[in-house]
Amino acid sequence: MSHKKLPKVELHLHLEGAAPPSFIRGLAKEKNLDISRIFTPDGTYKYRDFLHFLEVYEAACSALQTPDDFGRLVTAVLEESAANGVIYTEAFISPDFCGGRDVGAWKEYLAAMREAADRAEAAHGIVMRGIITPIRHFGPEKAREVAVCAQKTAGDWIVGLGIGGDESAGDLADFAYAFDMAREAGLQLTAHAGEWCGPSEVIAALDHLKVARIGHGVQAIQDAALVKRLADEGIVLEVCPGSNITLGVYDGLKAHPVKQLRDAGVKVTISTDDPPFFHTNMTLEYDNLATTFGWDENDFRDMNMVAMGAAFCDDATRARLTNKLEKNNV
Ligand code: ADE
Ligand code: ZN
Repeated sequence: MSHKKLPKVELHLHLEGAAPPSFIRGLAKEKNLDISRIFTPDGTYKYRDFLHFLEVYEAACSALQTPDDFGRLVTAVLEESAANGVIYTEAFISPDFCGGRDVGAWKEYLAAMREAADRAEAAHGIVMRGIITPIRHFGPEKAREVAVCAQKTAGDWIVGLGIGGDESAGDLADFAYAFDMAREAGLQLTAHAGEWCGPSEVIAALDHLKVARIGHGVQAIQDAALVKRLADEGIVLEVCPGSNITLGVYDGLKAHPVKQLRDAGVKVTISTDDPPFFHTNMTLEYDNLATTFGWDENDFRDMNMVAMGAAFCDDATRARLTNKLEKNNV
């Protein structure tokens, strides 16, 4: 059975990583930019492994050069998400790719994205909020500049700070300053950890960055004490099974720890990460979880309620969207 119509909440989606390859190819053509190396002959993104994926990702971002490009990207991404029943999405957005971390430029990019998001909400009912995202392998100094962008634009639309990129690069503790700045500006916090590296990265994210949510976090399964800590402290995991499987973290859904984590009482939510890169979307994720683990509409409703409860939006928005979930309305 297809879960396309089921209302869904997505907490972990990289805006740039959600760009359809045809959209990026079109922009590259407009700008006379040759990035043909990042595409397969049939037009999908081409990469060998995780680090190469990050390189290809950055090459794709090089085609996104203006506020208008980002506005058009938001329109394309939200249309696709809404078509898959997503009623609320929190998207990671990197000021690194939006005017090189200059606050004035960032504000122009942000205005274009918000305008597009407002139009998408009016057309499709989908609600979007942004999580500003430093990139770990760009280093802590750049992360501080990103945090300044976050501080200057924190509010009802920019609601959080996250960190993505190469989890094996540098020490997460060195990013604590950027996260402290964001917390002081009223932003809520999440961090990619335990996607590739072991439980110690998840522990570092909790201890040093004091995050309420963890992006992925699946490697926590190797440490029973950490799994208990996640459950006891109500830490929410933004689990992206299709991403993990396509990137080769796990051999398949049967070997993926999402069910074990949920059964252990950890707050699990489901997202797509970078859907076109991983040949996925929210409908496919749900369909595959239902087939493999026998999860039904009640399981998905529970997970969506967990996600809505952990969303970084204001409480009025949360109440409005919770109501939609309760009524099963897209
Ligand atoms: N940026 C985009 N996708 C990512 C992922 N899966 N892990 C880390 N950084 C990312
Ligand atoms: Zn991610």
